[in-house]
Amino acid sequence: MLLAVGLYDVVLTIHILAVVVAFGVVFAYPLLDAQIRRAGPGDVAALHRLHLALASRLITPAMVVVLLAGLYLALDRWSLGDGWISATFAILIVLFGLVGAVLTPTDRRLAELAERDAAAGGAPSEDYLRASRKAALFGSLALGLVVVAVFLMAAKPGA
Ligand code: HEM
Repeated sequence: MLLAVGLYDVVLTIHILAVVVAFGVVFAYPLLDAQIRRAGPGDVAALHRLHLALASRLITPAMVVVLLAGLYLALDRWSLGDGWISATFAILIVLFGLVGAVLTPTDRRLAELAERDAAAGGAPSEDYLRASRKAALFGSLALGLVVVAVFLMAAKPGA
């Protein structure tokens, strides 16, 4: 039975594990953020720095593994021309763009604004709240895209 497990199955396992590692934590962000904000409103900057560390050291590297393993799977048994694969490929590229061009710069700005607001000893500034709404909007969009990607991969419409 062990011999029947081929390289394809190993790469598929790596692909799915990388999906769990890349996106699992992001689904916990709303709860995590709410808990940290409640526990220590002064530590909001640390929360944004945690997001930044996760994005650069865990989420982005795991997304690269999702892409490389996905490409292997697609080229081995399927085709990049298959709609469910090309659509998910496009979603992953958009996710790279969202993380690199929107969510990371916004979290960096939020960390700076939170530090500035804490130093001023006041409530969150209007700038902070505006950037926070932007992060929530694009974060939700990213989560929605992950859900669509998982559906496309699982249902394989047209395959
Ligand atoms: C956000 C991005 C992605 C997510 C969340 C994701 C998720 C998944 C999941 C959960 C499976 C297991 C489905 C099953 O076994 O029925 C899977 C399989 C697969 N994925 Fe992805 N994937 C992503 C990106 C990609 C990309 C970019 C490619 C190709 C370029 C790709 C190609 C494949 C292939 C070919 C399979 C194998 C299907 C099979 O043999 O049953 N994936 N993916």
